[in-house]
Amino acid sequence: MIIMEKAIPALGEHIKSNSIIVRSPGRINLIGEHTDYNDGFVLPAAIDKAAYISLTPREDNEIHLYSIDLKDNYKTSLSDIHSLKEPNWPNYLLGVVAQFIKAGIKINGFDAALTADIPIGAGLSSSAAVECAMAFALNEYTKTGFDKLTLVKMAQKAEHEYAGVKCGIMDQFASVFGKKNHVVRLDCRSLQYEYEPFDISGYKIVLLDTNVKHSLASSEYNVRRQQCEAGVVLIQPHHPEVKSLRDATVEMLDKYVQPVDELIYQRCKYVIEENNRLLGACADLKKGDLKSFGKKMFATHDGLSRLYEVSCKELDFLADRVRDNENVLGARMMGGGFGGCTINIVKEEAVDSLIEQVGILYNKAMNKELKAYVAQIEEGTTILSSN
Ligand code: GLA
Repeated sequence: MIIMEKAIPALGEHIKSNSIIVRSPGRINLIGEHTDYNDGFVLPAAIDKAAYISLTPREDNEIHLYSIDLKDNYKTSLSDIHSLKEPNWPNYLLGVVAQFIKAGIKINGFDAALTADIPIGAGLSSSAAVECAMAFALNEYTKTGFDKLTLVKMAQKAEHEYAGVKCGIMDQFASVFGKKNHVVRLDCRSLQYEYEPFDISGYKIVLLDTNVKHSLASSEYNVRRQQCEAGVVLIQPHHPEVKSLRDATVEMLDKYVQPVDELIYQRCKYVIEENNRLLGACADLKKGDLKSFGKKMFATHDGLSRLYEVSCKELDFLADRVRDNENVLGARMMGGGFGGCTINIVKEEAVDSLIEQVGILYNKAMNKELKAYVAQIEEGTTILSSN
């Protein structure tokens, strides 16, 4: 057995000679937020923080799960896989097992141990990372040979059915398909993707973590999704070719949605503008115009905060504090919203002082501690050891 990574000691005693070990990373998203479930574009990347799973075969039909970080275990049998109210963490693993069973794949019993250095609730998709790690581990264990995209879709379904969040495909896709030093420009309708080198020499990607996760996050996420669908329903009688907001224009919204429902109008307007903004941002990247790219990040924040209303006072505070800072090219809230991180593109030599200064202000204003991470763009899901 060859183990390829230092981080594995965290799995320690759980690794046996016949264990399968998988690393699956968290993700950032440069621009293109809440566009994935509207058939639009996103621009994520996998990062240097990941979930690790070791899966060890058993002789019986039991599944024994262990969370190293929570020091908690859950035992069940393959004939009794269902989602749990409490504890919550096994759902991300069981949801994937359920997908394999649904696909008619014969699974034998196993022990699985899980650990992650992705901060939970920070909007870096720790749940997608766990699901993808599990999907790769089971694919290897059962020797099924599903391709990467099939595994991504199974992981996404696990989130829908076992975590109850009707997420788009971005997080799981980024975790699996990420490539070192590249962002992935993904068309969430066709699932065609391109790798764009993310060349920001002299700058760093800094994540400023509000350290809050408001309980609205998953329920409001599903509501936003429904609001986008409601907008499409209002346009469709006049434009049957509009299958999702990807096909709609602001003019259509002005005509058919605004007179009927102002709130749905605002939600849909944000999505259409964000999709266009992403295409512009990709053109900026190609030209190497990082200034223009950064401005679009701020515009995204404003749209998410005012039109889509998925920000919160902590995220707004962090975005506003760096808005006029000449060392910050762009910043915005990232991911689903209602807490988690802002993503900032910051001049390398200013990173430490920025974190310190904003940290002091944040602590004063919100009475909370600011956490900060400098993210590196890394490879997607990797099997570190198999048998
Ligand atoms: C969450 C979801 C993704 C995506 C983002 C918002 O991370 O899991 O599918 O919708 O929110 O862009």
